[in-house]
Amino acid sequence: MDNAQLERMPIVIGGHVDHGKSTIIGRLLADSGSLPEGKLEQVRATCARNSKPFEYAFLLDALKDEQSQGITIDVARVFFRTPKREYLIIDAPGHIEFLKNMITGASRAEAALLVIDAKEGVQENSRRHGYMLSLLGIHQFAVLVNKMDLVDYSEEVYRRTVQEYTDFLEQIDVRPLAFLPLSGREGENLVGASREMPWYDGPSVIGVLDRFESEALPVDQPLRMPVQGVYKFTAQGDDRRIVAGTVATGTLSVGDQVIFYPSGKQGRIKTIEGFNQQPHSSVTAGVATGFTLEEQVYVTRGELVARSSEPRPHVTTRLRASVFWLGKRPLEPGRDYQIKLGASRTHMRLEAVHRVIDASDLSTREEADKVERHDVAEVTLKLSRAIAFDVNTDLAETSRFVIVDDYEIRGGGIIREALPDQQDWVREKVFLRNAKWEPSNITAEQRANKYNQKAALLLITGSKDADRKTIAKDLEAALFQDGKVVYFLGIGSVLYGVDADIERTRENHDEHIRRLAEVANILLDAGVILIVTAQELTQEDLDLMRTTVDPDRIDVVWVGDHISTDLVCDLHLGEDIPPHKAVEMIERRLQDRGVIFRP
Ligand code: GTP
Ligand code: MG
Repeated sequence: MDNAQLERMPIVIGGHVDHGKSTIIGRLLADSGSLPEGKLEQVRATCARNSKPFEYAFLLDALKDEQSQGITIDVARVFFRTPKREYLIIDAPGHIEFLKNMITGASRAEAALLVIDAKEGVQENSRRHGYMLSLLGIHQFAVLVNKMDLVDYSEEVYRRTVQEYTDFLEQIDVRPLAFLPLSGREGENLVGASREMPWYDGPSVIGVLDRFESEALPVDQPLRMPVQGVYKFTAQGDDRRIVAGTVATGTLSVGDQVIFYPSGKQGRIKTIEGFNQQPHSSVTAGVATGFTLEEQVYVTRGELVARSSEPRPHVTTRLRASVFWLGKRPLEPGRDYQIKLGASRTHMRLEAVHRVIDASDLSTREEADKVERHDVAEVTLKLSRAIAFDVNTDLAETSRFVIVDDYEIRGGGIIREALPDQQDWVREKVFLRNAKWEPSNITAEQRANKYNQKAALLLITGSKDADRKTIAKDLEAALFQDGKVVYFLGIGSVLYGVDADIERTRENHDEHIRRLAEVANILLDAGVILIVTAQELTQEDLDLMRTTVDPDRIDVVWVGDHISTDLVCDLHLGEDIPPHKAVEMIERRLQDRGVIFRP
């Protein structure tokens, strides 16, 4: 079997600080003959020169230096090989790396090793890492009871450690594939059978690794493919788009009817393209691929592809999740975070904390309003826009997420439940509308090229006496003068026409907004820059419109000194700004957003 055919399994190694993770990996590399020629001797010589005792862990540092080429990297990734397959071992020093490596990344670990020092016994992080494995549903792991040389290779000490850790794991409902005693430093029970522990007759570390099974690729599950990007397809000189991503679960075939979520747009797969490969007729989980559609459907990065014949993912802005928090600053309400799930990324806030669990001793607290560092919590998260996902009991793959605070990943978790939000009733209508939508042969891009603009919805709202309409009409005139395809629509124009059958009552407010948004959606599809005025829009009104219309196309301007609702706007214009100045400012905003181009 040559290299290319040899399967590679990513494994993450965890455990309490100094319990011997790096030593075990260094020794595995050395004893399995996986080190580059001369590396061992080189590191030994360096140690001797500096009169420093040799440590197997230094091998990792040496390899890390080679990998990093001058930049600091925290995580060492080393390869070693047994006759059965190749392993990528990820030595992650901190919790955050441990977590990250199990949630994100091309080489997401599907198995883990947990190291416990026989002399020190089960420690805080032994438990925390065990908890993380259980939370993320990684059932394939082995517990290595290390430093057996320090306890005279005592079977009794080993049994005690196994018992103590088993008791803990049982409480969180996980069972490792194996426990085994070893000495990383002395090389006992790493590659071959142990001489010092004749009482142990199970497999060595390598033996256990080779018993891990490659995660059965989730091909039998419903199709999920996060859209990483949409690119121009040039192979046949046409302007067809290729939708690219990696199939997370399931199977995708030419001819499949697929639905993109959260938009609910639909299309039929025309071709499946391989990178540097012949086109395929079908692809399965784990494969990075791209496809084209029969229809010209406008979709963007972050959507999740599903097959119309299979169960669909959830789409909402509220979810119940279990999170692991690792930021120094607690996860707290009132602060803006980002959530990353698959290829989607959106702002979010902590809505409620239901329960906090200390993963090191499993004690729980019901009364908490924030999540402190190292805590696990059951929370409700509120997202600034709807995303598509699955709950962990249905499809673990598309239920895992990380939370970004201040540009860094500070936490992660799994979604347990999709919660209703105020846009549910509209979302269902939008899905149906998009399913029944008659696509034109003219693409959004062709229209944008022809009109030299991108379709956009500009909402001009504000206080009762602010002069929104003057600004809106002046803006319309200015853009029109510049050759733009632009249209002003006052909410009154809809109220007595499209809405003629419903009264102007409080109960009908949302329906009025929905219809306005549907009208806007049609005009946006036609490629128009649409300017809509309405008095005192609320955030709920906006969220409703963002459910009906692609949220990326909406811009919100508030006119008036004081924002009297809870609306979050993109541009705030004070009352005394003269209309021509206001028009200029809005035009600049449209330029910055790439809706119109600088002259
Ligand atoms: P961090 O990366 O800092 O969390 O530590 P680690 O888990 O990678 O531990 P490392 O491999 O650096 O080992 C920590 C110390 O324990 C070193 O001084 C090792 O020499 C020692 N050590 C590791 N394994 C053994 C062992 O089997 N027996 C003995 N006696 N010492 C060991
Ligand atoms: Mg280490």
